[in-house]
Amino acid sequence: MSSSRLLPLLLLVVSRWLPVGMQLKTQANLLPVRLLPAVSESEEVLPAKSRKRIMPDLLTEPSAPDPLYEANLYCNIPGVAEHSMEGHAPPNFKLLSVQVMIRHGDRYPLYAIPKTKRPDINCVLDPVRNPSHPNLANFISHMTKGSGSQMDGTLSSLPRFPSHSLCEMGELTQTGVVQHLYNGQILRENYLKKHKLLSNDWTAKQLYIESTGKSRTLQSGLALLYSFLPGFDWKKISIRHQWSSIFCSSHCDCPLRNHYLEEEQRRQYSYRIKNVQLEKTYVDMAKVVGVPTRLLRASNPIDSLLCHFCHNVTFPCSKNGCIDIEHFKVIKAHQIEDERERHEKQLYYKYALLATYPLINQTVSRMQRMSEGKKAEVFALYSAHDVTLSPVLSAIGLTEARFPRFGARLVFELWQKTDQEKEHYVRILYNGEDVTFQTSFCREHERRSNQPLCPLSKFVNFVKKGVFSALNSTSYYDACHQRSF
Ligand SMILES: *[C@@H]1O[C@H](CO)[C@@H](O)[C@H](O)[C@H]1NC(C)=O
Ligand SMILES: *[C@@H]1O[C@H](CO)[C@@H](O)[C@H](O)[C@H]1NC(C)=O
Ligand SMILES: *[C@@H]1O[C@H](CO)[C@@H](O)[C@H](O)[C@H]1NC(C)=O
Repeated sequence: MSSSRLLPLLLLVVSRWLPVGMQLKTQANLLPVRLLPAVSESEEVLPAKSRKRIMPDLLTEPSAPDPLYEANLYCNIPGVAEHSMEGHAPPNFKLLSVQVMIRHGDRYPLYAIPKTKRPDINCVLDPVRNPSHPNLANFISHMTKGSGSQMDGTLSSLPRFPSHSLCEMGELTQTGVVQHLYNGQILRENYLKKHKLLSNDWTAKQLYIESTGKSRTLQSGLALLYSFLPGFDWKKISIRHQWSSIFCSSHCDCPLRNHYLEEEQRRQYSYRIKNVQLEKTYVDMAKVVGVPTRLLRASNPIDSLLCHFCHNVTFPCSKNGCIDIEHFKVIKAHQIEDERERHEKQLYYKYALLATYPLINQTVSRMQRMSEGKKAEVFALYSAHDVTLSPVLSAIGLTEARFPRFGARLVFELWQKTDQEKEHYVRILYNGEDVTFQTSFCREHERRSNQPLCPLSKFVNFVKKGVFSALNSTSYYDACHQRSF
């Protein structure tokens, strides 16, 4: 089997294996950082509960993340006002381009728990049902008129919005559409209204849009675009299809990447079977449902339970009893611990560097072209999955970032100083939070200087050299093919 044929298979495996909604957090990250632009890091507005723990003794008091709190963040239920930091830079900087990677919004589970009733969730969009968005009605009407659009083959045959009264497996829900209508609105406020990134007569060439071949990614991308450019001209929208969920395009042949992925899966397996409480929970749940434990585990119940949780639908029951919140908490807590171990062992990091190299390389190349005054898209949107965003976060060194929630967004901004020097800078934002100086390539920079942004050259060096030295190699081809195992 050639490796390009092996890849989708592996990704299918990894997307079943990798826990949904895993997150690692630190003390500083205990609560969502909802910073107002004018508030400094040390003045974070934290509720009283965590204020008590300003100086935790890390040795005697391991911070145990709260699985329910984490699950809530993962759901990303629209309605909480967000103070996003996109587009915030000192006045002597000009915004040149923005590249956005998103995870699709809330979706129906990918797997059903055997012998139980599927959660009853309505995927027909209805602007009067909550959660809703002021643009929802117009979005639906605009989507029904999209015949003039240019979409790559597979995409043009997909529905442009969800429509089943009982959601299909993996279908985007109304919550998912609304999450991206909000994302688009935030980007519109910050980039179009404040920074005039696009003029009113923007052209097709200024946009780059790419989506995987799932209806939930296409629809999420369209929802974001609709709020970003309300009533856009379909003839100016062209959407490319990406067959690979790691967006490796024509650079997918990378045997060592598959090797690290397999090693990571072995690590994950042995970590799981060490967790006695987790194993007991699966046995318990299997008894409730009335299937062998193995079968229950294979159905990836946490994915389905998260859907119940996010939609406030009671967990499934049978004549033997009900799956309950304690089961849910044990599995969710394990995901969080597993994410922590995953970071320590570094196998996933190596996988991530190789897996996302083509995508990160494309991102930095677009910035470079722009900085050299060559033609490049001003706004790029990649509509993707958790298995896309999670390795990108790992590869750029955002080890404290939470696992991508539904509707997550990762943004790369390119800025130019408007003084004589005309130097170029990057800012990186995850769910609206400025994480530029948490990346592996800008961390040192912050310590040594008082520049408010990170020089583009840091990011370029990371992609041209840093990635390979982390892999004891000199090029992508070598890094993918060396026989160090
Ligand atoms: C969740 O459902 C319960 C009972 O069905 C209801 O009492 C509660 O208000 C709901 N919570 C939310 C946030 O909708
Ligand atoms: C990286 O980007 C450059 C410039 O676009 C391109 O020529 C090269 O093929 C890319 N390499 C990989 C491995 O994606
Ligand atoms: C690179 O080499 C160093 C020293 O030999 C080793 O510790 C490290 O694990 C290697 N990294 C990779 C990715 O193979």
